[in-house]
Amino acid sequence: MAIRNIVILGNATLRKKSKPVTSFDQSLGILLDDMKATMIEKKGVGISAVQVGVLRRAIVVETEPGKYLEIINPEIVKTKGKVKDTEGCLSIPGFYCDVPRPRYVKITAQDRHGKTFEFEAEDYIARCVCHEIDHLNGVLFVDLTEEGREYKKEHGVE
Ligand code: NI
Repeated sequence: MAIRNIVILGNATLRKKSKPVTSFDQSLGILLDDMKATMIEKKGVGISAVQVGVLRRAIVVETEPGKYLEIINPEIVKTKGKVKDTEGCLSIPGFYCDVPRPRYVKITAQDRHGKTFEFEAEDYIARCVCHEIDHLNGVLFVDLTEEGREYKKEHGVE
């Protein structure tokens, strides 16, 4: 496993829409292993492929301490509620703010072998999954709040 460089806010790659994963091959496995290693090294709780510069719809989320879920080609099928809580992002080091997110989310996705599964999450994990899915669409948490928009303005980054 290798630690990859994290793409930081201001780099146009973060704003691109990631493409679906179509090959469930060895290189996908290597990408996911590297994403997980990079996330652990940088002390994150979620990471998307675009954050290591790969525009594919792949995510890794820490669902409980030391337990990691690989989420490929996710689709949100249901959300419930709304709750505000603090978020950060490996691509925006040092900035945190409260962001509204669904309290519950249900997704369908594929694993690294292409097998489809359903996953339900609440609260903190639901927040994490929604944050990472936003990354796949070029959306960052700083786009979603006034504080975040101020941060972008102050730093002259988009
Ligand atoms: Ni992020």
